[in-house]
Amino acid sequence: MELKQAIESRRSIRAYKDQPVPLEDLKELVRMASLAPSVANFQPWKFVIITNKELLNDMARKVALHLEAIPPNESRAAQNIKSQVEWFATFFQDAPALIAVAMESYESVLEKGVEMSHDEINRKRNFPDIQSAGACIQNILLSAVDMNYGACWLSAPMIAKDALEKMMGLDEKFNLIAFVAVGVPGSIPATKPARDLEEILKIID
Ligand SMILES: Cc1cc2nc3c(=O)[nH]c(=O)nc-3n(C[C@H](O)[C@H](O)[C@H](O)COP(=O)(O)O)c2cc1C
Repeated sequence: MELKQAIESRRSIRAYKDQPVPLEDLKELVRMASLAPSVANFQPWKFVIITNKELLNDMARKVALHLEAIPPNESRAAQNIKSQVEWFATFFQDAPALIAVAMESYESVLEKGVEMSHDEINRKRNFPDIQSAGACIQNILLSAVDMNYGACWLSAPMIAKDALEKMMGLDEKFNLIAFVAVGVPGSIPATKPARDLEEILKIID
């Protein structure tokens, strides 16, 4: 498939056929992710592939509990909003596979030579660790299209990040960033129009 076609046809897929994704294919998605650019070529990522149903259910339950614990505000829509978000944060339990993307703290070249902490440099550079995660996640999404799978990027479950890291047995030096749910698409949503170029683009000649 042409890259352009993959970019144009990619959608967030949240409903999947009851069909497992072979481990070889999931490993190929992770291999493609690992080819993304990263800050100082540190390749700070770690991936966890989860296909264990029981663990996926337990993780989704944990996310739901964390959401329930947040007090709703006074608005009349509050309850609806919470249940809608709960679905967006927990539908991964019905995905054939979930890829967790975690990042290790990188050491920037600058911090070796200046009196500034890693955290401050990271903040001033607009979180290049998270930016690196974004690049590798997009590689997964586009490769999934190329391999006839559907995928969805999830950050909502991160509300239960600490608990999820423990449930996955993630080494403490890694920080869980996001999930990508993967499966054979059950349904593909209609294309959403992108905003006009005139609206989003400024050219300085
Ligand atoms: C950083 C990020 C976080 C996202 N988190 C979630 C999420 O937690 N749950 C979900 O269902 N979709 C999530 N999405 C998917 C977006 O909702 C989706 O990309 C957007 O609605 C546009 O639709 P499209 O991907 O089909 O073009 C996330 C996307 C991004 C880029």
